[in-house]
Amino acid sequence: MKQPDSRLPAGRYRIETWGCQMNAHDSEKLAGLLEEAGYSPAADASQADVILLNTCTVREKAEEKVFSRLGSFRPLKDQKPSLIIGVCGCVAQKEGESVFRRSGLADLVLGPRAIESLPAMLEQVRRDRSRPVDLERREDSVRFAGHRARRAPGAHAYLTVMEGCNKTCTYCIVPATRGREVNKEASEVIREAESLAAAGYREVELLGQNVNAYRSGRLHLDGLLRMLQRVEGIHRLRFTTSHPAHLSLEIIQAMRDCPSVCNHLHLPVQSGADAVLERMQRGYTRRRYLDRVEKLRTHVPGIALSTDIIVGYPGETPEEFRQTLSLLQEVEFDQVYSFLYSPRPDTAAGAVEDGVGVGEKRAHLAEIQALQQEIQVRKNRELVGTVAEILVDGASRRGRGQIMGRTRSNRVVNLQGDGALVGRFLQVEVVSAGPNSLEGRVLAPTGLDLDKIAVYK
Ligand code: 5AD
Ligand code: SF4
Repeated sequence: MKQPDSRLPAGRYRIETWGCQMNAHDSEKLAGLLEEAGYSPAADASQADVILLNTCTVREKAEEKVFSRLGSFRPLKDQKPSLIIGVCGCVAQKEGESVFRRSGLADLVLGPRAIESLPAMLEQVRRDRSRPVDLERREDSVRFAGHRARRAPGAHAYLTVMEGCNKTCTYCIVPATRGREVNKEASEVIREAESLAAAGYREVELLGQNVNAYRSGRLHLDGLLRMLQRVEGIHRLRFTTSHPAHLSLEIIQAMRDCPSVCNHLHLPVQSGADAVLERMQRGYTRRRYLDRVEKLRTHVPGIALSTDIIVGYPGETPEEFRQTLSLLQEVEFDQVYSFLYSPRPDTAAGAVEDGVGVGEKRAHLAEIQALQQEIQVRKNRELVGTVAEILVDGASRRGRGQIMGRTRSNRVVNLQGDGALVGRFLQVEVVSAGPNSLEGRVLAPTGLDLDKIAVYK
């Protein structure tokens, strides 16, 4: 590990993250780089000498939030002119130099594939207050040595196995921001998983924009899962995000055969109507998606499924929308993330005009959410009285001495307990259920965890 640069007086940093798990893990890498450079975490933005916004541009609203957040730093910057504010992630990649035109408060712009430049850019800003930009599409994030990341506390760790996307979904800006697919070599993935296990991590979540397309030489995701299954100490494996057209039977069989691979899959469907799927260039039909669901349910007993839905894709007719509702009824997902379509620049659909009013789209979104809420309440209630193993993630959003953990099927369980239980596996009984989470009562520790999670070295 690089030694902190002794010429630099210690400063404090704060990173705020939007978007997907990939961004969350990139923030852990950025934090690692900052700590190598001698910075330490700040309790909040007002205490920081460096603030990084790690941004998402998948919908317009996410991007707007970044610029309003930037604006909110004006008083801090007035008070402390040496404060450095960096814009990283997908908005940085999309906007480049124009971040500076949209906000006079930003000092540096760093694309998601060039994160290793951060220390040099910070030094540059400190030296001459110039405003560096690095949008080069390198492989920094994928190649990043896992032990350098500053991971969130707990026994769960992200591991980037691939980045970028070669698909051409017409609504999606990600290929324009993250670029084309690059993979981490299987031997490096295994090595990283082994050192995570040695450091006390028990759950590893493999990340990739199209993780089902992972390959390393002749090895595909199914082979990688089978290799990871043999890493001692890793009790849970997850991977995200899956693309239905790339979810091979081999991957499903690996899920079936590997006891560590959790019985949950996030499989974004986007729409239940073939015509919309075709206009989106998703590369599968409703029938083919349903066939994947059936295979998953046959091979992986008790599997929980979650999905993403886009409502109001250009030209979506009421009938096409009904087909999405009927798909939700047919599959009965355990969780659905639904979004209003947001036109994005540099996408094929971005330029398409359509006459459907936003009021109607909002009503459709509400209808999806109401239906799904009903399904989730019903399904979750069926779990009351059952016993599950959870891995404790941290404090519950509810506060009041409550903690939360996840079952292998990725259900959130809130329970009474203190922070010392973070990173522990517990056996809990489900005592009540809401649409998005369960309430649990501890029966016993399962003994799967080691001692405390050491700082990952
Ligand atoms: N508008 C709305 N939702 C989008 N998503 C991706 N692009 C857009 C867009 N332009 C959604 C998809 C994807 C999730 C991460 O975000 O459902 O699966
Ligand atoms: Fe947002 Fe997509 Fe970038 Fe993730 S990859 S941060 S979801 S735009």
